Amino acid sequence: MEARILVVGSTMIDLIAYARRLPEAGETLVGERFASGFGGKGANQAVMAARFGAPVAMVNAVGDDSYGATHYENFRSEGIDVTWMRTVPGSSGVAPIWVDGNGVNRIIIIPGANERTDPAVAVEAVGAFRPTVVVAQFEIPQATTLAAFRAARAAGATTLLNPAPAAPIDPALLALTDWLAPNETEFATIFGGSAVGDGADARISAAAASAGVRLAVTLGERGVVLALPGAPLVRVPAPMVEAVDTTGAGDAFIGAFAFGLGSGLAPEAAARLAVACASESVRGHGTQTSFLGRDAARALAAPYLGGS
Ligand code: RIB
Repeated sequence: MEARILVVGSTMIDLIAYARRLPEAGETLVGERFASGFGGKGANQAVMAARFGAPVAMVNAVGDDSYGATHYENFRSEGIDVTWMRTVPGSSGVAPIWVDGNGVNRIIIIPGANERTDPAVAVEAVGAFRPTVVVAQFEIPQATTLAAFRAARAAGATTLLNPAPAAPIDPALLALTDWLAPNETEFATIFGGSAVGDGADARISAAAASAGVRLAVTLGERGVVLALPGAPLVRVPAPMVEAVDTTGAGDAFIGAFAFGLGSGLAPEAAARLAVACASESVRGHGTQTSFLGRDAARALAAPYLGGS
């Protein structure tokens, strides 16, 4: 089964400062390195999926500034279809990021043109690209994702929502979501309880049942928990790795998970592939620059696909 993945999501330019520790309020300190590169949760997820060799298309709006055109070039170099990318007046999205000595990040996004990602263009993309999986996040308006998911549902595609950054979900959007993939913070914002600690299993199962979705709760170094309504939870642990930069690890997970589901893998196998992929990404600096390259991604996926 061929995965055809449409990402309706964001682009950002990541401006990443690395320091052993992060400054207190009012403090200036000297950092260790700086990197800028392509980011945005949507773009990252699209790039990761494309590196497995899947046909991928992107729906987004960039600004008419110097950053905007570079996103088109980046996507083309990754083999991603940019037919439904648009350029609008104003600034492209940017993301100042701080990463501490443990590889843990803090991110502020300034969405800019992302806010103008057009619902009509998203609907057009679903009809023309004919995806098997439509992926979205919360760095563009939920109304755009709602339109895309409505079209995806009508076309029989699987919808995968990564509700990041954390925000309450429009109930109409939740009703069109097949897979919801929050991290710990996002789970707490949406469902009002913790996805870790005593009673977490019951809270996660109850959340999946009440929302009527399949849940993939990502827990960083603890791996992922899958909850399918009416079935026992499945925990997929993460391998021990030395993390230098966790930026984009969640996106590597989502891109790989979308590829796995779209390729017909069972949810647990898709999650195992995605956890392995995300774990690799924390070993390198930067966002898309830390993701597995094409050859490595295909080699990682081959045993899973052979068995499907
Ligand atoms: O998930 C990491 C991403 O979040 C970064 O690339 C940044 O741009 C923000 O969107």
